[in-house]
Amino acid sequence: EGKSYEHIKVSSPKPGVGFIELNRPKALNALCTPLILELNSALRNYQADNSISAIVLTGSERAFAAGADIKEMKDLSFADAYGADFIETWSDLVTFLKKPLITAVNGYALGGGCELAMMGDIVYASNSAVFGQPEIKLGVIPGAGGSQRLTKAIGKSRAMEVILTGDNISSKQAGEWGLVAKVFETPQECVDGALATAAKIAGYSQIAVKAAKEVVNKSQDLGIREGVEFERRVFHGLFGSEDQKIGMTAFAAKKKAEWSNK
Ligand code: HXC
Repeated sequence: EGKSYEHIKVSSPKPGVGFIELNRPKALNALCTPLILELNSALRNYQADNSISAIVLTGSERAFAAGADIKEMKDLSFADAYGADFIETWSDLVTFLKKPLITAVNGYALGGGCELAMMGDIVYASNSAVFGQPEIKLGVIPGAGGSQRLTKAIGKSRAMEVILTGDNISSKQAGEWGLVAKVFETPQECVDGALATAAKIAGYSQIAVKAAKEVVNKSQDLGIREGVEFERRVFHGLFGSEDQKIGMTAFAAKKKAEWSNK
């Protein structure tokens, strides 16, 4: 906090929880480069801030984000895009982030907006949410991980249908397909639910939380056998933490654990 941005709002409504709201209402939160740079900066500040343990990212009731900024992109040449590795700044958004990120999606989450939503470690939505990868209608394809993350999330045949037709996915469908973890009745309940989950996570040992996020993410890259071995090694490592002793001693003594985050 303290830092002011033009296209996003940052706050900390609950202890240990960082909250980012995309705030470019006139363009339905279209993700122009300055917005992405601000988002990057806010996430980096949270990553470095020991008082923040989990982060919630949301948009407005009308739009999580309606995509990359089409007006900004429309005149790019191949040389511009390739030369500057256009969109590469987006991959920075999550790869460095060791703390859990929950995306709370209301309204449109299209194209880059859908891709950004899927960068959440946990995705929540309300009934108003509409997901989709409409890039095909613009003569392009998803460029910030949509073809990869959507396919992992809902399977090849469904992802192929969504990406090739450009048809939207309703929040109900997204819930049934497992694209989102929970569907809430209203946008406010969705944001409140995300903040409550973030606060719950922030109440655990931050070492264990970080390790849990790391091992679950490994499942996206490794085969089952290597993944299970990796998990076991990280699990072993946690016996070197104070918090493992604190947590298990508290259980045995029927007390509440007071984490040291060491
Ligand atoms: C720039 C956008 C925008 C976008 C909306 N706006 N989406 N500007 N880029 N992606 C602007 C509109 O131009 C308009 O500006 C204002 O926001 C309100 O939008 P309307 O279209 O008037 O609203 P509505 O009729 O309610 O329709 C909402 C909508 C529609 C269905 C979401 O805006 C839409 O289809 N948007 C584009 C969705 C899309 O194609 N996304 C994928 C982008 S490509 P004015 O100035 O007229 O008021 C992409 C590639 C990702 O994301 C690759 C890697 C990042």
